[in-house]
Amino acid sequence: MQVIDARADAARINELFYQHIPESGLRNYWHPVALSREITEQPLARTLMGDPVVLLRRQGVAYALANACPHRGTQLSKGSCEFPGSRTLTCRYHGWTFDVADGRLVAALTDGPQSAIVGKARVRTYPVAERQGIVWIWLADSAPVPVEQDIPRGLLEASEVHTVRRVAPGNWRWHVENPGLGHATFLHRDSAYMRMVDMFGYAEEPSAVLGTEGEDGEWLLDKFGGMGTNREYPGLGTWPPKRFGEVIKLTKFADGPLGVNSIVSVRLPGIVRVSNFPIGGSLYYEWFVQTDADHYLYFQVACGYPKTLLQRASWLARFYGWGRWAGMVRFNAQDLDMTADSHTYAKRHGSNDPAPLYRPDGFQLAWRKLAVEQLRGGGARLPARPVLREAAAP
Ligand code: FES
Repeated sequence: MQVIDARADAARINELFYQHIPESGLRNYWHPVALSREITEQPLARTLMGDPVVLLRRQGVAYALANACPHRGTQLSKGSCEFPGSRTLTCRYHGWTFDVADGRLVAALTDGPQSAIVGKARVRTYPVAERQGIVWIWLADSAPVPVEQDIPRGLLEASEVHTVRRVAPGNWRWHVENPGLGHATFLHRDSAYMRMVDMFGYAEEPSAVLGTEGEDGEWLLDKFGGMGTNREYPGLGTWPPKRFGEVIKLTKFADGPLGVNSIVSVRLPGIVRVSNFPIGGSLYYEWFVQTDADHYLYFQVACGYPKTLLQRASWLARFYGWGRWAGMVRFNAQDLDMTADSHTYAKRHGSNDPAPLYRPDGFQLAWRKLAVEQLRGGGARLPARPVLREAAAP
């Protein structure tokens, strides 16, 4: 476990971050794009990192192709399967027919079976994989790594996987940087999810720790040393005030069945993980897959690990009776609202430069450092100055 205190290198880290981590997203990684059950024989159009993509299923296998016919650019998602049972997709305009596995033109229906164009045109294909009922796509030109490398073990091993997905206005980079105790103790305190919690005012001794917890691999963990609350602000009064109905005592070590005590962490390519969210005993992950310049797919996944029928019934009751709507839908909508504003503000001012750092932003800066240094396919090393030190025992 290492504490990453990157504040002394903030300027250099920000410079490298904007140089290496594009607004359009990180292509050299697998990203979730849809649920397996949504990919059928009927083509489904999506825009991913600016690429128009068509997803479809043939012979039980999911495929993805560029959603533009190489003849006149018509969207292939408007096409059809003219040879039932085959692995083909036919363009609606002039009947060019492609093998969806490799993108080869295998027939031109309006030019007859002997058409000379056959074999001479090709549409781009994208590697696709399915794990845990989710369709994953590789958008880079390079050969993909094994998909398991980019899916957290906590998701691969979950016995319950439930998602909430929406296209949100904004940019993925802002939302990856949303987690952290700089916002959680304030923004969410009036949410239904936190309303009954005896919420503290701020995190004392916040730190970004690179390490492992459980079997879920290495993450950048948002840690803190203590909970500051009911403090006197000179000339202003005491904050936060005691609220009626705060019946759930939050302690550093308690894991309630409704999941109000969480540790937030992040890893490349911008996956956020929250323990005990949206209900106790679960793991929650979120991906932010940029679609176009101003929108991204906010892909939320709740993972449960019940072993018996009784445990499963309890997990599902708590998830659908509480965690999904109070946590994943409404609580997280507060984050969407804020990060959309950050995007609008940055565009209006034509700059990505963050406001001057305050102490809780150390986590966001540590993420930027990690992203720059660990970026697959080439990142950058920061100056040799030792900014890492061994963490105290957790
Ligand atoms: Fe597709 Fe002509 S545009 S066949």
